Amino acid sequence: MTKIALLVLLILIILSTSNGDRTKMLFFRGRLSRGDKKGICNSMVLPLGYPCQNHPVTTKDGFILGLQRIPTGISGNPSNKPPVLLQHGLMMDAGIWLLNQPDESLPFILADAGYDVWLANSRGTRSSRGHTSLNPKDKKFWDWTWDEQVTYDLPTTVQYVYNQTGQNLHYVGHSVGTLIALAALSKGENWLNMIRSTVLLSPIAYLSQMPSPLGRTAANNFVPERLYQLGFYKFYPKGGLVGKLLGKMCDKMGANCSNLMTSFTGKNCCLNSSRSGYFLEHEPQATSTKTMIHVCQMIRNGKIEMFRYKSDKVNLKHYGQINPPVYNMSRIRNDIPLYISYGGKDALSDVNGVKTLLASLKNHHPNKLVTQYLNNYAHADFVFGVNANKFVYYPLMAFIELN
Ligand SMILES: *[C@@H]1O[C@H](CO)[C@@H](O)[C@H](O)[C@H]1NC(C)=O
Ligand SMILES: *[C@@H]1O[C@H](CO)[C@@H](O)[C@H](O)[C@H]1NC(C)=O
Ligand SMILES: *[C@@H]1O[C@H](CO)[C@@H](O)[C@H](O)[C@H]1NC(C)=O
Ligand SMILES: *[C@@H]1O[C@H](CO)[C@@H](O)[C@H](O)[C@H]1NC(C)=O
Repeated sequence: MTKIALLVLLILIILSTSNGDRTKMLFFRGRLSRGDKKGICNSMVLPLGYPCQNHPVTTKDGFILGLQRIPTGISGNPSNKPPVLLQHGLMMDAGIWLLNQPDESLPFILADAGYDVWLANSRGTRSSRGHTSLNPKDKKFWDWTWDEQVTYDLPTTVQYVYNQTGQNLHYVGHSVGTLIALAALSKGENWLNMIRSTVLLSPIAYLSQMPSPLGRTAANNFVPERLYQLGFYKFYPKGGLVGKLLGKMCDKMGANCSNLMTSFTGKNCCLNSSRSGYFLEHEPQATSTKTMIHVCQMIRNGKIEMFRYKSDKVNLKHYGQINPPVYNMSRIRNDIPLYISYGGKDALSDVNGVKTLLASLKNHHPNKLVTQYLNNYAHADFVFGVNANKFVYYPLMAFIELN
């Protein structure tokens, strides 16, 4: 057990400290194709016959986020339903929603059902690498966590979609994409009126019982904190030499690393293994090491609060108080439509953590809260399980149809 923990720690350190762009990666072994140079519209949407537009949006702190819009279904008939904004999770980008065939992938299903689909890409991913003054080579470019996504990216993106369409929108988040929404909802700001309903797939909230061995080991050993001290501000889990090293280490220690994704996310029931090459062309994506530190803080302390700096003094400087401000889940307005879907095999969004979240929502209006439990599902099944259409997407569409 300790052997495996040590191995994982080593892997994490090596993976994160290498910065090669080619060959092997964290989640599967595989090839990185030239297609990576092309954007999401060009490589994942237009070739399937769907329309796709790129929309740059500038945040108050200067990040230029790339949104993709699929304005109609394959028929080209104008959309007759409201916009839906999709927000992916950590170390991914919007490509994660588009990995399967159109009738299995949420954005295409929504577009074909008449919705106007908008895909968000978190700051630091390849679609959202722009900044009005900073360069991705700068330390400052990576000086943010999911707090900034709550404070800047989400409100700006929602406002932008509203401006473009003149309509309030539905929100669908996966993983850390749910955390951002929950944190924003708990603040109760006015711009939230532009959101009609919120769908949370594999919600990330209370993490103290999270079973993911990779996640726990990183948190307990302060892996991202150490990387940050070493000067690695960008967390980029792809590496040149790394794949080979990884393979050697795994062979040597008798560990099976052929599918590291399983040890990270839990045992996904329903992924299409013949799509893993396509997955690797597009994922994983970079995030800030500071975000990884923030998530590890949540694993260690079980709280949902803003990033905790090293000393009371620095917290005081940033927040005007010694402890970081809390995102209080009980403050989420009890009449906003919420759909929460979670899985029994999920190692990141574990059942106990979701139960804690649901307990903090116990005063929610019963007609405004739908929860769905899928016994077999793990973290990735919700975004690219081959049967997620039947088990997750059609039910969530029935929900947003009513709101
Ligand atoms: C939305 O429109 C308002 C009013 O025209 C404008 O002030 C604001 O900058 C726009 N925001 C975004 C994010 O497009
Ligand atoms: C390693 O895991 C993969 C996928 O889970 C499996 O196909 C393979 O047989 C395993 N190899 C060994 C040596 O256990
Ligand atoms: C899995 O992917 C392969 C290759 O892209 C495809 O031919 C097959 O139909 C997919 N299977 C399912 C169940 O979607
Ligand atoms: C969260 O909000 C509720 C309701 O306003 C309040 O009773 C509770 O004390 C708050 N919790 C924290 C940790 O601030």
